Amino acid sequence: MDQEVKENVVTEKVVVADNSTIVESGASEGGLYGIVQDIVQNPLNLILLSICFYLLWKIIQERFLKKEAPVPKRSPPLPKLPKRDFTLAELRSYDGTASSPDGRILVAINGKVFDVTRGKSFYGPGGAYDNLAGHDASRALATFALGPDAFRDTYDDLSDLTIDQMNTMKDWEAQFQDKYDLVGRLLRPGEAPHDYAIDDEEESSNGPSTGTSTPARVDSKSEIVTSIETKKIK
Ligand code: HEM
Repeated sequence: MDQEVKENVVTEKVVVADNSTIVESGASEGGLYGIVQDIVQNPLNLILLSICFYLLWKIIQERFLKKEAPVPKRSPPLPKLPKRDFTLAELRSYDGTASSPDGRILVAINGKVFDVTRGKSFYGPGGAYDNLAGHDASRALATFALGPDAFRDTYDDLSDLTIDQMNTMKDWEAQFQDKYDLVGRLLRPGEAPHDYAIDDEEESSNGPSTGTSTPARVDSKSEIVTSIETKKIK
């Protein structure tokens, strides 16, 4: 009888041990191995992963690996660009190439134009994000894409963006506002440029206005429309 009980206990242990072995090996298969398998089996994932590695490589290369050209002296920072508005065609010329005025690089997001010359390693020729230079980057940043579909040849009113995409774009806008100088607005076709000299005069008589409020996130499609309409009026 005693012997029988012992045998039962031993058998149960084996079963328990076996189960835990199964559970353990199951966990590891569903975990990292499963993720790797998912990525390898889906060509779209492979493409996205390659793009990520490529961008990461370009950033690391620019930051740490690129041998500094024997520049005798660092060129002094450019003076702040006087505020003005830009048509899409005018914006295009500020792409950081040799033909770009003062070698400046401008990028537009959500109707605002930023001077990103300081971020030349990102946006200058050969940088990871050089195709944003001199462009309206709103759609690219909203959709996290850098391909040709992320840019329009004509003014992009962004009206087809989803709420999430609009909010992603606004987060980028806030980031750029913190890091770079806001130099003006991107004009819609036919829109007249604003005369900032008048603002400067008003500012000197009324005190400075910040002009750098953090963009509000939107919660509904109607707010997106309102946001775009506000852009039209401003
Ligand atoms: C998934 C792949 C990606 C990786 C691994 C990646 C990596 C990075 C890293 C590490 C930085 C910070 C660099 C630094 O501050 O030194 C950065 C900045 C940035 N990334 Fe990416 N990125 C990826 C995709 C993208 C895409 C698809 C876009 C555009 C649609 C994008 C736009 C930007 C921008 C605009 C900056 C900020 C540059 C600045 O500070 O002016 N990235 N990225």
